[in-house]
Amino acid sequence: MPPSTFVNEHNVATIRNLAGLATPMALRVAVTLGLPDRLRGDGAAVEQVATELNVSPVALELLLGHLAALGIIERASTGYRNTDYGATLCSDAGNGLTNFLHLDMAGGRAELAFVELLYSVTTGDAGYSRRYGRDFWADLARYPRLRESFDQQMTHRFREQIPQIVGGYDWGRFSTIVDVGGGHGTLLAAILAAHPRVRGHLVDLEPTATEAGRTFGAHHVEDRAQVTAGSFFDPLPEGAQAYLLCDILHDWGDEHAHRILGRCVEAVRPTGRVLVIEPVGGRRAETEFDLAMLVIFGGRERRVDEFRTLASAHGLVLDTVTDLTDQRCLLEFRLADPS
Ligand SMILES: C[S@@+](CC[C@H](N)C(=O)[O-])C[C@H]1O[C@@H](n2cnc3c(N)ncnc32)[C@H](O)[C@@H]1O
Repeated sequence: MPPSTFVNEHNVATIRNLAGLATPMALRVAVTLGLPDRLRGDGAAVEQVATELNVSPVALELLLGHLAALGIIERASTGYRNTDYGATLCSDAGNGLTNFLHLDMAGGRAELAFVELLYSVTTGDAGYSRRYGRDFWADLARYPRLRESFDQQMTHRFREQIPQIVGGYDWGRFSTIVDVGGGHGTLLAAILAAHPRVRGHLVDLEPTATEAGRTFGAHHVEDRAQVTAGSFFDPLPEGAQAYLLCDILHDWGDEHAHRILGRCVEAVRPTGRVLVIEPVGGRRAETEFDLAMLVIFGGRERRVDEFRTLASAHGLVLDTVTDLTDQRCLLEFRLADPS
């Protein structure tokens, strides 16, 4: 075979591997069925597992065969069991994979919006709304399990980054910080714990806001932390020195991002700051994540100049950009005319 033919066939095989949907879906279905948890130990017979899960034994064997080909499980004399590699998918592995892959949890359900990528690229709108008939946030409001799993996913993703975010910026210069869309409050709690003179106020939707109150109690900062259950499209608590938007604006297209920034600007003290923490396009953002923002939210990882333009419509000037972590920057805005 001439070398060019070999290279071409290799390229085709590589692209088929990248593009094939069988493996991503097999992993998701395995997690959704709870197979990694069920296949701990010595090995389980296909018929037995199929009966327990109420699925077709013939089809289950096909799924198990593919998972074995991937090295996720292996065949033992007594049936199938996890490999060490596959045990990474167990629900108690503490790595966030279950939420990401489980089709009935927020992360897994949202990933399926990628089926609508063509629609999103054509229109610039969220594929999620087209697939599920309502936007991501309305879906979370409708299904408490989605809301709960999403909030857990948000808390989990910052587990290792919070010390860098707290240590990488001078939060102590503010007397009050409003965390707009602050989720379960783990970041604000860590900032308050590190800076005993700072007071915080978190705004988020219910039931997330109530959970944030519990977080502040658990971190012993509840005497300096207020919670308001409400929307950031409505007026925000007034008069704080800093309004923090952490991973908020990238969830929204420009029209909504303007409304959120407008609420911050009407509430902030004239000499205060609007702080945006996000993966900044072309600087800290990953291309795959960028596409996820598009299909799930109709949002995107904006570039520094896009943030500057967005904010200037509200009289905000970009002062500094700080690289906080491998994935996120902090953009500090002040009012151009603080009078
Ligand atoms: C990507 S999460 C970020 C949470 C938190 N800032 C963090 O970085 O962990 C987006 C947050 O925005 C909140 N959110 C969405 N729509 C909202 C609205 N209309 N008003 C207030 N919060 C909202 C969600 O509940 C969620 O907690």
